[in-house]
Amino acid sequence: MSLFDVYPLFDVTPVKAKDVFVYDDKGTEYLDLYGGHAVISIGHSHPVYVNALTNQLQNIGFYSNAVQNPIQKKLADQLEQQSGCKDYALFMCSSGAEANENALKLASFHTNKATVIAFDNSFHGRTSACVAATDNPNIVAPLNAQQQVRFLPLGDLELVENTLKAEPICAIIIECVQGVGGLDESTTEFYKGLEILCHKYDTVLIADEVQSGFGRTGDFFAFQKHGLTPHIISMAKGMGNGFPVGGILIHPSIKASYGLLGTTFGGNHLASTATLTVLDVLESENLMQNAKDMSAYFMEKAKAVPQLKQLKGRGLMLGLEFDFPVAALRKKLLFDHFLFTGSSKNPNLIRILPPLTIQTAHIDTFFNALAQEL
Ligand SMILES: Cc1ncc(COP(=O)(O)O)c(C=O)c1O
Repeated sequence: MSLFDVYPLFDVTPVKAKDVFVYDDKGTEYLDLYGGHAVISIGHSHPVYVNALTNQLQNIGFYSNAVQNPIQKKLADQLEQQSGCKDYALFMCSSGAEANENALKLASFHTNKATVIAFDNSFHGRTSACVAATDNPNIVAPLNAQQQVRFLPLGDLELVENTLKAEPICAIIIECVQGVGGLDESTTEFYKGLEILCHKYDTVLIADEVQSGFGRTGDFFAFQKHGLTPHIISMAKGMGNGFPVGGILIHPSIKASYGLLGTTFGGNHLASTATLTVLDVLESENLMQNAKDMSAYFMEKAKAVPQLKQLKGRGLMLGLEFDFPVAALRKKLLFDHFLFTGSSKNPNLIRILPPLTIQTAHIDTFFNALAQEL
């Protein structure tokens, strides 16, 4: 049977990985500055993570959400403490799209309204409501296009208010630092303004932290820089360090009832163990501080890059924007210098999303390679 051919593949076959490095079937070592789409947070095959998952699997790997799961409860308590999101409730699922799908559904249940406001260049996933709220018509099927979404430019608060006045809106969904779209971020004034408008018009504010969450920006969540209190926070990617985990945090103003949301796999014993271990290692290795320190080092080094138009993003969620398309440069970095980097919707931008364990020597390796190619 062939694989459904939807991914243009690089001719690299990783068979092993350790911390910030990936090794292919020929033994070549690659420096991973992309973490497989921002997924690797505490480093590939971290020994604490490998031990915790192995031990858990020896006991019980999975049972459904119909029984007590103390690991999921422990995770909720630890997440509350480490994220600083007091009194929110946790609902777990298995991917970023599923997290946003549940967030949007819950917003619609809560407000009894159906239309969503999303922003230009947004990416929220590929399932029903998420893909409709994603600014890329190429991946929206006619089925998804039935959802009602208004796309607005980032930063135009007046247009947001006019839209809220004109029709019932169940949710405003934001990425405080846009990922796939190309690392754009608006001002605190804009984000706080959205929060105020959400309260005024009975609309749910959803912070999509699927890519930016779990310490990647140096804060636990990217919205925290702007002092927001979103109604719903969606998470995935770095949350499981490769184990497929997603979830939403729900503000106490939104009430649960039996059957409102549900999933077979979400929050199972292995998934909860993976996320608990990520939290433990984030804290024990002080990785949020490392994200801040390495970000500052990266930004300093970037100043010397010729032809760099702009450095975007924050923490270890960064974008180098040039005034030319970067596809050929990224290929050279991969095949001549053995460096994984990422692309974005902006063809001139290289995305940098390394494990949060990255050190200055790795950043030097990247800038040396870049200097040779520019
Ligand atoms: C901000 C954001 N939201 C949602 C998603 C979808 O996550 P997943 O691919 O796990 O469904 C992504 C994936 O890139 C993302 O970057």
